[in-house]
Amino acid sequence: MEDELHLNFNSWICWFYTQGMGRTKGFSPRHDDIFFFTKSADFTFNLDAVRVPQKFYRSVNNMRGANPGDVWEFSHVHYCQESRTPHQTQKPEGLAERMVLASSNEGDLVLDPFAGSGTTLWVCQQLNRDSIGIELSADYIALARTRLGEAFKGFDSIDPRMKRIPKDLNNPAIRDEYKVNHKKWFLSHHEHEMKAFDRAFAKKYPETSRQRLLFDPAPKG
Ligand SMILES: C[S@@+](CC[C@H](N)C(=O)[O-])C[C@H]1O[C@@H](n2cnc3c(N)ncnc32)[C@H](O)[C@@H]1O
Repeated sequence: MEDELHLNFNSWICWFYTQGMGRTKGFSPRHDDIFFFTKSADFTFNLDAVRVPQKFYRSVNNMRGANPGDVWEFSHVHYCQESRTPHQTQKPEGLAERMVLASSNEGDLVLDPFAGSGTTLWVCQQLNRDSIGIELSADYIALARTRLGEAFKGFDSIDPRMKRIPKDLNNPAIRDEYKVNHKKWFLSHHEHEMKAFDRAFAKKYPETSRQRLLFDPAPKG
């Protein structure tokens, strides 16, 4: 890529998945490699769009989130999931979402020269990017066309870290503000995760002063 196409190497990303083919002799494969090259030194990289939640609330931490790093966990699209197509190597939408968000802006044009079931094109459609797909198989092109006509209900996969609720959100005002921001920063395009996040948040931080006052008939002490 460097010698023949004069592209610039940026990152070697490891996509880690928890389920896949099992081997009885040798270790079952649980990762794919993703190579990130750029055409020039001046390229789009929207770090804020792809940050992941911090583990702790600390005034020194950037609560907007941390860099996701170069090891990414996304589960494969399961055969029972609604978004699953007959394409054998369909990629998780969350994986394409991170790449598209990081490397393009709204209105940009994204090319996927091996479009398959159209995951990249579908993700671009939801994120307001234009896209071009190239695909050898007429059957897969038909599959991708159908997919692009479907209603959007949220991407089919998410980095598990996006569900992480920071520890030590002890100040009620900061906690309330953080909760709203978390959904906006990390869960947009993942509507179905928001309810689960609300439940997990209430479980982790059950004692807001208002709740204690209204619902606890016998306050401790
Ligand atoms: C790994 S799959 C892509 C999967 C896709 N990202 C998805 O989520 O469905 C690669 C695709 O490239 C197509 N392909 C292989 N060689 C090609 C070529 N020379 N030109 C266009 N498409 C090609 C295959 O038919 C296959 O659908």
